[in-house]
Amino acid sequence: MSFKVTVLPANREFTVEPGQTVLDAALAAGIVLPYSCRNGTCSTCEGRVVSGEYDAGPAPARILDAADLARGHTLLCQARPSSDLVIEAREVRMADDIVVRKMPVRVLTLEPLAPDVMEITLQLPSAEAFRFQPGQYLEFILKDGSRRSYSMACARADDHRVRLHVRHMPGGLFTSRVFGAGTEPLKPREILRIEGPLGSFFLDPDDPRPIVFLASGTGFAPIQAMIEGMLERGDTRPATLYWGGRRPADLYRRDLALAWRERLPGFRFVPVLSEAAPGDGWTGRTGWVHRAVMDDLPDLSGHQVYACGAPAMVEAARRDFVQQCGLPPEAFHADAFTSAA
Ligand code: FES
Repeated sequence: MSFKVTVLPANREFTVEPGQTVLDAALAAGIVLPYSCRNGTCSTCEGRVVSGEYDAGPAPARILDAADLARGHTLLCQARPSSDLVIEAREVRMADDIVVRKMPVRVLTLEPLAPDVMEITLQLPSAEAFRFQPGQYLEFILKDGSRRSYSMACARADDHRVRLHVRHMPGGLFTSRVFGAGTEPLKPREILRIEGPLGSFFLDPDDPRPIVFLASGTGFAPIQAMIEGMLERGDTRPATLYWGGRRPADLYRRDLALAWRERLPGFRFVPVLSEAAPGDGWTGRTGWVHRAVMDDLPDLSGHQVYACGAPAMVEAARRDFVQQCGLPPEAFHADAFTSAA
C-alpha cells in the first residue's frame, strides 16, 4: 500500500511506495531533501515527523539524541511510512539538469597524492552528460553489489572526466585494489560501474554569510570542488578553509590551497596538524581542526559552515559550533565519510 507524505514548510507532497524510504521516494519525485550516507550513519537526513505512523528502523536511536527523538525527529533515509505522514524537513534546491544515473566508467589514471591517498581520474561515457554540483559524490557499484562513495574533487566533468581522492583502508576490498594490493590491482583502462551524482552537500549560492570550510584528510576533495566552483563563478564571499590532518603528508594538496589565496579575494587557509612530530618542521597550528575554528571565531552566529571528513570530527564540530559558538543549526552543512573500505 502506498502513502502520501507532505513536507512542511514548503507544503510539497509525494507518494511512498511499499518498501520505499521517505528519502528515496522524495528523490524519485524530484524533491531533494538533505542527505549524504543513505545508510543511517551521518544524520544529514534528520527531519521531524509531525503526524502519522512509520517504522524508524534502529538507526535513529543510535545517533540522535533522546530529546530530539522524543520530539519526533527521525532519519528520513531509514523511515518507512505505515500511514500518510506530515514531516518537517528542509528542501534543497538542485539544478534542474542534474539527473542521477548509473553508467560504466573507465579508469584513466591513478596518481598517488600521499602515501595513503590516490587520485583516480575516471573517463565517463561521452554520450552521457554527467552534471553535478561541486561537493556531490558518486558511488562505485562493486561486483558483489556493495557500494563505495567518493566525492568529486573537481567542479565539473571537463572532457567527460572526474577526479576522486581515495584513502587506503588497509585490508579493504576496494581501496586495497586501488593501492595495488592483493591479487587484482585496479589498473588504468579497467571498466567500473558508478551511480551519481548523489548528495546534497553543495554551496547555497544565495547565502551571503561568510563561509567556513572544515575538512579532515580526504574530506578535502568536495571542498576543493566547491572552491574551484567559486573561482569559476567569481564568487567573492569571504571564505576560510580549515584543513586538518595528523601529519604534514595528510594535507596532500597544501600548495593548491595556498595558491587559492592569490586567486580568490577574501580566501584564507588555515592548515592544522593534530600529531605534528618534532622532525616535521611544522610551524603552523596544532590540535583539533574544529577547535582551531572555535579559537579564531568564537562567535559563528553570522557564518555558514561546510564540513567534510571523519564522522567524529564532523559530529564534534556540529555540536560545539551550535552549542558553544551560536552557529544556527541550519547553517551547518556536512558530508561525513562512512568508512567502507
Ligand atoms: Fe540518512 Fe545519512 S543518516 S543520509
